[in-house]
This record gives sequence, structure tokens and C-alpha cells, in this order.
Amino acid sequence: MNNNRDDMRTLWYDDNSRQLQIIDQTQLPHTRKVVVIDTLEQACDAIVHMQVRGAPLIGITAAFGVHLALKRDPDTLSAACETLAKTRPTAVNLQWSLTRLAEGLVSVPPVQRAEAALEMAKTLLAEDADACSDIGDFGLALLRDLLEAKQARGGEATLNVLTHCNAGWLATGAWGTALAPIYKAHLAGLSVHVWVDETRPRNQGASLTAWELAHSGVPHTLIVDNAGGHLMQHGLVDVCLVGSDRTTAHGDVCNKIGTYLKALAAFDNQVPFYVALPTSTIDFAIEDGLSEIPIEERAASEVSYMPGLDDTGKLRSVAIAPLGTRVSNAGFDVTPARLVSGLITEIGVFPATAEGLMDIKAWL
Ligand code: MRU
Repeated sequence: MNNNRDDMRTLWYDDNSRQLQIIDQTQLPHTRKVVVIDTLEQACDAIVHMQVRGAPLIGITAAFGVHLALKRDPDTLSAACETLAKTRPTAVNLQWSLTRLAEGLVSVPPVQRAEAALEMAKTLLAEDADACSDIGDFGLALLRDLLEAKQARGGEATLNVLTHCNAGWLATGAWGTALAPIYKAHLAGLSVHVWVDETRPRNQGASLTAWELAHSGVPHTLIVDNAGGHLMQHGLVDVCLVGSDRTTAHGDVCNKIGTYLKALAAFDNQVPFYVALPTSTIDFAIEDGLSEIPIEERAASEVSYMPGLDDTGKLRSVAIAPLGTRVSNAGFDVTPARLVSGLITEIGVFPATAEGLMDIKAWL
């Protein structure tokens, strides 16, 4: 399997022009626009305004941001890391990547730091692509087992997977986390169909996951966020597969707001609920997700306005609530470990328990 899927990349470094380039995800699904990120400020803006988003990709972008800062002034390592660390609070990959850069660069003479940071950022990107590919392989085995079990029970020959938010290649170095097993299953000829939660308020499911799956020809159906429970009650979901922005040492999982409700519905309907994540998304320093994970509170306008194309094909934003309505907009929620059937990582599938997480730690 080719891990360097150029058609599955949302961020790359062009060695000829020596430029960091990204697909601007705020323009999807209507326009595939590539923008150049040239400065630390642009890297920070891209993360804050979600031109890049998704836990692994935020960490990768931050690593390139350190390089860009050092290219301008080699004595700004800690200041750059501090600035980048403030861009988004929930995904631990940001902190993980900045710590790795800071520790790796501190002993490098300042004049060589920018190049060393670039090499480290490229390595992070390549490692994440490989990790996601491996997640895909482990997840594929799981999906194959689920499909065979379904067929043995006399069920239809298609596996219905429900996913939330966008945990595809747009959120990672390549392949994705939750979508990687789906891509691998599709490539291996398994019949899979994906229920795509729209994922209010920013609609990452509708605008990004649906776009990605269409790009690869994976059968899918877009649903409103509230439909999952109904579909599960009617036996139309065989497995839920989501990503994670931070996983605790006891197996709690923090992901896009609404994930918890899907896990509850899955539990009530005996639908397996798996979380796919690179180990860079595990925060071994914390145990209790509910009390310890910082949850990002995002702008009210994300809830009270909705962007989209008008009849003339022009991108517009329209108000969907009375002007001035008070809004609450937590970006993430925590799914307790007891609702998680397993964690699909690049080193295998583990139980979402303290013991499972200890086993992962022992591998690293
Ligand atoms: O706010 P976003 O779009 O950055 O949130 C992304 C998610 O919640 C993903 O599911 C998560 O990062 C895991 S996937 C790689």
C-alpha cells in the first residue's frame, strides 16, 4: 500500500519553492484553494481560523510554524512555541508536537535551528501519514470481522459505518484516523457505506467528510446530527467510528461536540463504538477527561449563522436565529471510556481502559 498518497494530502512542503502549502479547508467543499503559509503569524491564523484543523494536522502545522519563526529569527524558539500553543486548546497533538520540537532544537546552535526544525516538521508529517495508514490496516481487519459476522447472521452484504465530524485525510498527514479503515476497506473491495453526521455547527461532516468520500468513490449518505439514534434503533448502523482530539490515560475520549450522544445511542443499541487515533493524541498526564480536558468555546456566530452557496453560486452566510440570541458553543465533548468498544491505534487495537492505555505506553 502506498503511504505517500498525494491525492490524500491537505498540507505539504514544496522543496522546490521552499514553501509550506495547505488546502484552505474553510473554502471546501465548494472551492479547492491552495494557500501558502510563509510566516509564524500565518501558521497561527491558519490554525485559529481552521484553514487547517483536526488534531494531528494542527500539531503538524505548528511544527512548520516553528520552522517559519526560526527562519526569520533563530532566537525565538520558546516565544514561537508559546504563541503556537495558544492557538487551540483541546487537541493535545499541538502540545505534543511543540514539546517534541522544543526538546529537539534546544541543543541545536541557533544558526542551524530553522533547517533542523524543517526536518523535524517533515518527519512529523511523514510519521503521521504512516501512523494513519497503520490505523487503516488495523481498522480494516476489524471492519472485515464485523462484515463477516453480519453476513454469517444472514444480514445484507454491506457494512454501515457511522462517523462524526471529519477524521479523514483533511485532518491528518494522509489517510485520516476514523476514515483510514474505511478507505482501506473500500480499496480492499469490502462493501462499506458511511452515514456522515453533518456535525453542527461548522458542518465538518457535510463539507469535508462528504467531499473526501465522494473524491474516493466511497458510498455515503449525509444525515443531520440528530438522526444517528434513530438509524441505530432500526439496525441501520453496524459500527460507529470516530476520531479523537485527546484520549486520557484511562481511555476517556474527547472529540467533536456530539460524539458523546452518538456513543450513548450506540451503547443503548449494542452498536460497537470504536475510536481511531494516532498515539500522539493520547495525553498520558491526565486520567479523567471530564474534569481535566480543556474544552474550546468557539464563536457564537458559528451557531447563529450558516454559510453556503446561494442560487447564483456565491458563498454567503445567513442568520438562522433571531439576531442577538444568546449562544453557547462548546467545540468538543468527552465520551467516557466505558462507552468505547476499543481504541484503534497505529500499533494495534486496545481496550479503552487504564490497562489498555498502559499497554500502549509500554509499546512507545
Ligand atoms: O474542530 P476540528 O474540526 O479541529 O475538530 C476535529 C475533530 O473533532 C476530529 O474528529 C479530531 O480531530 C480527530 S480526527 C483526526
